[in-house]
Amino acid sequence: MAVDLLLGLQWGDEGKGKIVDVLTKDYDIIARFQGGPNAGHTLEFDGIKHVLHTIPSGIFHENAINLVGNGVVIDPVIFKKELENLSKFDLDIKKKLLISRKAHLILPTHRLLDAASEAAKGKAKIGSTLKGIGPTYMDKTGRNGIRVGDLELENWQDKYRALANKHEAMIDFYDVDIEYDLAELEREFFTAIERLKELTFIDSEQYLYDAQKEKKTILAEGAQGSLLDIDFGTYPFVTSSNTTAAGACTGLGVAPGKIKEVFGIFKAYTTRVGSGPFPTELFDENGETMARVGNEFGATTGRPRRCGWLDLVALKYAVRVNGVTQLMMMKGDVLSGFDKLKVCTAYNYKGETIEHLPFNIEAENVTPIYTELNGWQADLTKMTEASQLPKALNEYISFLEKELEVPIKIVSVGPDRTQTIHR
Ligand code: IMP
Repeated sequence: MAVDLLLGLQWGDEGKGKIVDVLTKDYDIIARFQGGPNAGHTLEFDGIKHVLHTIPSGIFHENAINLVGNGVVIDPVIFKKELENLSKFDLDIKKKLLISRKAHLILPTHRLLDAASEAAKGKAKIGSTLKGIGPTYMDKTGRNGIRVGDLELENWQDKYRALANKHEAMIDFYDVDIEYDLAELEREFFTAIERLKELTFIDSEQYLYDAQKEKKTILAEGAQGSLLDIDFGTYPFVTSSNTTAAGACTGLGVAPGKIKEVFGIFKAYTTRVGSGPFPTELFDENGETMARVGNEFGATTGRPRRCGWLDLVALKYAVRVNGVTQLMMMKGDVLSGFDKLKVCTAYNYKGETIEHLPFNIEAENVTPIYTELNGWQADLTKMTEASQLPKALNEYISFLEKELEVPIKIVSVGPDRTQTIHR
């Protein structure tokens, strides 16, 4: 049985949580494969809005098993809070939520190191969510990390102490003003570890292999977006994991040949949180309208998101790197009311017109070249059928499909589960 993949194609916040939630009824297992609590997946149903950080977005569906894969990094403290927020839903967490023994743990000192590193960078800071993601993946690839499975061993606290001591020396090395009470942070951490230990730890690659043999349906849920990928994103303004399709293979132990559908999620315009290049960014009232109507504030940090027109050069790149087979366009409703819409179809790169994403897309090198399309005025939020969509929106969609060479199968017209149009 094949594994389907769901990924964000821009700089994150495309609305992956909503689509996973919509699609979950078709899957037996939903698996997160990378990232950590830097993610914020927002789900809305029955008038309730819920934000998940580490827990997969299938957790509210009755029969779905939710798996936190080996490629994910877990902060036990944030995880415990996520579990507390779920307690009112009466879910059988021990049965519904499985954790890979090979997933790495975010320690309190990883968070402190993130803060120290960002403070030391000054103006060149990444704009990290400061959840300790970068330092944890550094320890993973540096072969120093602590994994969930270590918690089942007797001496894991010795390993913890040695690593935390090293981190403290590293924090001193940064020589920045960071105040912290490690004893207090550790008390909170060790309490949260006890809660984590009550959950079900598994050898997830084996579990997924068996599940495939039993013909279970599996959806791998990506976090962040392709332009934040550690290899293919706008480095160094990226996150520290592979957010693109290949990350699902390494982050779950699924063989490349087993991946079937690759669902690519994008917003009808573009947003970005944190620092880094953004060629189509708007600093005018159009950008302000997108931010206001789209409620563009980070789900994890609450920071305002930068907004701009859709960048097809970047989107094509993401479609190709991921091998996207179906597209899903989010927040079409936010663009209602614009007279004209612009879509970036090429860049002027150092005086030359190019249609691919170059190594360096800093504003001094790249000016977007736009194609103008007609806007639409109708309120889409009550629409339920593709036949109701306004003509100009259909033209917008057809233009994108032709450029991207992949069909747009879902158009989302609002945050609620029900505001989803299938084409
Ligand atoms: P970090 O992964 O928290 O260190 O953040 C690195 C960069 O990725 C920053 O620009 C963050 O704003 C961005 N980022 C991380 N996670 C998300 C996300 O879930 N959505 C959008 N941006 C994110």
